[in-house]
Amino acid sequence: MTIATLSNEKTFLCEPGVTLLDNAKKHGLVLEYSCRSGRCGVCKAFAIGETAIIHHEESVLSPEEIAAGYILTCCRGALSDVHLDIEDLSLFGDIKSKTLPCRVDSVTRLSDDVLEVSLRLPPASPLDYIPGQYVDVIGKNGVRRSYSIANAPRQDGKLMLQIRQVVGGVMSQYWFGEIAINDLLRIEGPLGTFALRNTSVTNLVFLATGTGIAPVKAILEQLKSNPEQVANKKIWIYWGGRRTTDFYWQPELDILPVTFVQVLSRPNDSWDGRIGYIQNAVEDDGILMTDAVVYACGSELMIHSAKEKLIALGLPQKNFYSDAFVSSN
Ligand SMILES: Cc1cc2nc3c(=O)[nH]c(=O)nc-3n(C[C@H](O)[C@H](O)[C@H](O)COP(=O)(O)OP(=O)(O)OC[C@H]3O[C@@H](n4cnc5c(N)ncnc54)[C@H](O)[C@@H]3O)c2cc1C
Ligand code: FES
Repeated sequence: MTIATLSNEKTFLCEPGVTLLDNAKKHGLVLEYSCRSGRCGVCKAFAIGETAIIHHEESVLSPEEIAAGYILTCCRGALSDVHLDIEDLSLFGDIKSKTLPCRVDSVTRLSDDVLEVSLRLPPASPLDYIPGQYVDVIGKNGVRRSYSIANAPRQDGKLMLQIRQVVGGVMSQYWFGEIAINDLLRIEGPLGTFALRNTSVTNLVFLATGTGIAPVKAILEQLKSNPEQVANKKIWIYWGGRRTTDFYWQPELDILPVTFVQVLSRPNDSWDGRIGYIQNAVEDDGILMTDAVVYACGSELMIHSAKEKLIALGLPQKNFYSDAFVSSN
């Protein structure tokens, strides 16, 4: 066995053939991650020591980053003792993911290509999660896809998912063609580390495209129950879509200091709102990026260009959190 050391001096043993991310988890340490398949880059770390790819290609790393010693902890395992320039996230430390059976409780059409699916868990096995996290839904034949939980934890334990149809998609076929009330599915979760962090900055900026609004909705519900958490802060929500029908949700703007901006990339003549891409809208609105934290969720393209743009505008790199809805293949 080898040993991995984090920048806060915490260590964990590394079994051969197991990724650094999974080895950390086995020892009760949660490292930052989202897709677990080398596609989103959230688990990027600078590593000193010998590592090897265990599974998935590090497709999101540039040749320059690889040459400079960056790795993805969801792809690589340790061959020697390793130092990583990242810290574990104590916020998620006590939350264990598990696999549970669940039943489809209700299905509501939110727009022509988005469904809200409510899942009912066994009363004795509620899911403990932090708003912003996601679950893997395991359907027929073991097909597994990730979906953000669109609500904060509720008394009845139900999980709401907002699911966009991908034409020709395996799981979309089930959601949009075969689903029936009381269907039995399984979920694994909670997963991911996309969640509100304690921060002293003034501007909390949420960026979402499409169903990327789901975890933002969950985080907002959490804040509505604890508005003191955002006393003296400003909350900005930018939601990007292609058509007006993509905007199937409105935040309740009564309790929280929220500015809600919808931005259409392909507007029709009747649209008199904002036009373009959400990262450009943030720039146009002149939000002070040196005093901001950004949570971006949805398309990979938006996340990459928003990160680049907002960091260039002064956002500290460590204040950009993301959950990219990358496809599973
Ligand atoms: C962390 C995470 C959270 C997610 N949360 C949500 C969520 O809350 N709501 C939601 O609707 N989806 C979410 N997704 C995406 C979801 O997991 C599936 O990828 C999506 O539903 C497509 O699954 P499918 O089986 O229908 O299509 P697949 O059979 O997986 O794909 C069919 C074809 O479409 C392509 N494809 C798949 N997804 C996309 C895409 N997004 N854009 C372009 N092409 C695509 C594939 O490459 C493939 O060629 C999330 C993904 C991740 C990684
Ligand atoms: S690339 Fe490792 S979690 Fe996405």
